[in-house]
Amino acid sequence: MAFDTIIAGGTVVTASDAYVADVAVSGSKVVAIGKDLPRENAGRVFDASDKYVLPGGIDVHTHLDMPFGGTTSADDFETGTRAAAFGGTTTIIDFAIQYKGQTLRAALDSWMEKAASRAVSDYAFHCIITDLKDAHLDEMKALVREGVTTFKLFMAYPGVFMLDDASIFRALRQTAAHGGMVCMHAENGGAIDVIVRQALAEGKTAPKYHALTRPTTAEAEATARAIALAEMAGAPVYIVHLSCNDALEKVREARDRGLPVYAETCPQYLYLSLDNFDAPGFEGAKYVFTPPLREKWHQEKLWTGLKQDQLQVVSTDHCPFCFKEQKEMGRDDFTKIPNGGPGIEHRMSLIYSGGVAQKRFSVSRFVEIVSTTPAKLFGLYPRKGTVAVGSDADLVIFDPNREHTISAKTHHMRVDYSMFEGIRVKGMPEIVFSRGRVLVEKDKFMGRPGGGEYLKRSSATGLP
Ligand code: URP
Ligand code: ZN
Ligand code: ZN
Repeated sequence: MAFDTIIAGGTVVTASDAYVADVAVSGSKVVAIGKDLPRENAGRVFDASDKYVLPGGIDVHTHLDMPFGGTTSADDFETGTRAAAFGGTTTIIDFAIQYKGQTLRAALDSWMEKAASRAVSDYAFHCIITDLKDAHLDEMKALVREGVTTFKLFMAYPGVFMLDDASIFRALRQTAAHGGMVCMHAENGGAIDVIVRQALAEGKTAPKYHALTRPTTAEAEATARAIALAEMAGAPVYIVHLSCNDALEKVREARDRGLPVYAETCPQYLYLSLDNFDAPGFEGAKYVFTPPLREKWHQEKLWTGLKQDQLQVVSTDHCPFCFKEQKEMGRDDFTKIPNGGPGIEHRMSLIYSGGVAQKRFSVSRFVEIVSTTPAKLFGLYPRKGTVAVGSDADLVIFDPNREHTISAKTHHMRVDYSMFEGIRVKGMPEIVFSRGRVLVEKDKFMGRPGGGEYLKRSSATGLP
C-alpha cells in the first residue's frame, strides 16, 4: 500500500500512551500506525526520531476579529490561525457574539463569514448569548442539532454582555434538556462595577487598578453561583479562564461531589502575576484582561490543579489588542483599555515547558490538557484530539529539546507586543500538519487562507 506521507520513528503520544511507531497518512486521515511501515512509493517521509508525534493542539477559547471595547481584536481568522499553526495548534473554537436584539443565527452567520475564506486550519464556534428571550431558547435547541453545541454566558460586564441569574438558569435548563453545555465567564459583575466606580472617583486610573478592582472573591462567588445554578438545572457547566485558587476550590468541591463541572485556565495565569503591573509607564496595559492577573502564589495552585485534573483544559483566551492605539485608548482611565491579551501562538510550548520539562506532569497529561480533553468536551473526538487510525491527520512533530525565547520580534501574531516577552521555553513544534497537509515546516508557513474547514460538533461531552 502506498501512503501519501509517513512520519517515521517518532514517539507517538496520546492521552494514554507514548510509544515509538511510524504514522502513515493518506488524504486527510491517519491510515496506519505501526513499526516499519512500507516506505516505498510514499509521497514524503518525515524523520521524527527523537521527536514526539502529537495530535494537533485544540484551543477552545479564542476571539479573532472581535469588536470589543470600542475597537476590534487585532488578529483576524487568517493571521490568528496562522500564528496558532506556528505554535502547533490546528483547531480553534472561537465565539460568535449575539448582540442585543439579534438572533443567534445572525450571530453565527456573521462569524462564519469572517472565518470562511481566511482560516488556514479548522475552526468551530461557541455562541455568546447576551439577550435571552423565549425564541432564543428555541434557537439554542436548533443550534445544538446543527453542531454549535456550547454557549458562553457572562456574569460580568453589566450593560454589555452580562445576563441575570434567571436568564442563566433558563439557558442551563435548555442545555440540560437538549444537550450542549454552557461556558461561563464567572465574575460578579455587579459588585466589581461598584468597586471600579469608587476607584475612578478616587483618581485611581492606572492599568493596575483593573486588577485591584476585580478581587478573587468576585470570581469565586460567581464560580460557586454558576455551579449551583447548573446543579439546580441538572446541566453540565464549563468555567472559562479560571484565574485563581479561590475559584479553583469551588470547582474542586463540585467535582468531588461528582458534578459535571469542568474548567480551563490559560497560560497567562500560570506564568504572569500582579508583578507585571510594575512595568514602566503605561505598559501595565499589556496585561489588562479579565479575569485579571493575581498574586504569584496562585500560579502553583493552578499547575497542581492541572496535574490533579481539577482543571481539565488550557486554552488561551487569545484576544489581542495592539499596545499602540488600542491599549492606549485607556491612558487616562483603565476602564477604557480594551480587555484581552495575545497568546494563541505559545500555548503548547508554554504548557509543555512548564508542565513536562519542569516535571510537573507527563507528556500524555500534556496532550490530554491541550488536545484530547478539549476534543472530548467540545464534541470533536475522535476526529480530533488523538493520533489514531481514522482520525484527521492533524499532527505535530514536536522537538522536546528545542529552546526558544518568546518575543514580539519573532512571533507571528498581528500584535505589537508579547505578554510572554523574554520567557524561555523548551519544546517547540517542528512540522505541523492539518488534515494531512503541511501547514508549517521548519519555521516556514506552507498553508493557505481558506484551507481551514468549519467543524460541526456533537453535543456529547465524552467525559465523566
Ligand atoms: O479580557 C478578556 N478575557 N477578553 C476577552 C473576553 C472574555 O471575557 O473572554
Ligand atoms: Zn470571558
Ligand atoms: Zn474570552
